[in-house]
Amino acid sequence: MAILKVENLNKNFGKIRAIQKVSFEAPEGKVLSLLGPSGCGKTTTLRCIAGFENPDDGKIYLDNRDITNIPPEKRGIGMVFQNYALWPHMTVYGNLAFGLQIREISKEEINKRIKKVLEIVQLSGYEDRFPRQLSGGQQQRIAMARALVFEPEIMLLDEPLSNLDAKLREEMRFEFTEMQKKLGITAVYVTHDQAEALVISDKIVILDQGKIIQSGTPKEIYAHPINKFVAGFIAISSFMEGEIDSFIPEEKKVIIKTNDGLIIHGYNNNLSLGQKVAVTIRTNVIKFVEEKELDLQEKINIFRGKIIQASYLGNTIDYRIKIGRWEVRTNSDAKYNFRVGEEVFFYLPPEEIVITSLI
Ligand SMILES: Nc1ncnc2c1ncn2[C@@H]1O[C@H](COP(=O)(O)OP(=O)(O)OP(=O)(O)O)[C@@H](O)[C@H]1O
Ligand SMILES: [Mg+2]
Repeated sequence: MAILKVENLNKNFGKIRAIQKVSFEAPEGKVLSLLGPSGCGKTTTLRCIAGFENPDDGKIYLDNRDITNIPPEKRGIGMVFQNYALWPHMTVYGNLAFGLQIREISKEEINKRIKKVLEIVQLSGYEDRFPRQLSGGQQQRIAMARALVFEPEIMLLDEPLSNLDAKLREEMRFEFTEMQKKLGITAVYVTHDQAEALVISDKIVILDQGKIIQSGTPKEIYAHPINKFVAGFIAISSFMEGEIDSFIPEEKKVIIKTNDGLIIHGYNNNLSLGQKVAVTIRTNVIKFVEEKELDLQEKINIFRGKIIQASYLGNTIDYRIKIGRWEVRTNSDAKYNFRVGEEVFFYLPPEEIVITSLI
């Protein structure tokens, strides 16, 4: 187990500023995820930590030991690559043994370690198979085993599940979490899949265009995204935009006026009058209200919209609703059976919508 600390990492490729002032600490025995869109610098960060890339600036510490200039094989770090990169002409045994043989570890020790890692990834007895004789999920597990066979202090994983189909990916998420907990190994896990990051992480670092935008626990980031980008990235959402029109101090509420004059009540203590804000509406917050109930409801945050699309998904229906100049999405109980073109009323609970600064 180890603590990884990254301080002010910069890496340019010619004019491309791949990462800028990236700093974070990966807690001992926990999973830290780097989450962000394609090209935001996730792989570059991992490659710097592993030692395959030299940062232009910054320091990397493993258990307070400065490893910034140590060669990769001496860092005590295991890496699982974005494509598994198993050697196709070698058996599972060959793939797992190769790096150890180079290090002149005894055959007896190699056999012992391979047996142990294959047990961990639940593929005991697969030593003689070639990668082409394995399913995608099994190849993925061998890639993990190949990193584990070095008995690393920490493990870096670059989108390890991205080549798998949706169902297998979900299963493997749980398997990875179980394995990581059992081994108690510190892991840095790269993904651009927000659901994956929420499920597996103890801490999430959100990157955009080479910079850290926010870091925190999954709950913190989900409940209190710092801006519209994070809010949109961490959950499927739709947005309205406007500015802070006034406050209700005794209720700790803010009142937002959208660009097209809609008034929305919500909560956020860190915004100032006139500030440009985004109202984030996640797919589960819209509550439909029947016209005859309207008088009974609070008058705030009730809106009239028009259904512009309805997608039947079995238990639920995905509606797109036009409201003013905005379009919002909701994933609703299939008991609502609205037709395209129909007018609907709905309520946005102030405590369930998320108000953030726009940038
Ligand atoms: N060897 C390289 N030479 C030049 N530019 C590079 C190199 N490696 C990465 N880049 C650039 O650096 C930026 C960050 O790339 P990186 O591979 O770290 O992104 P990523 O977040 O891993 O993306 P993805 O999710 O697509 O894998 C991108 O603009 C990329 O084009
Ligand atoms: Mg990448």
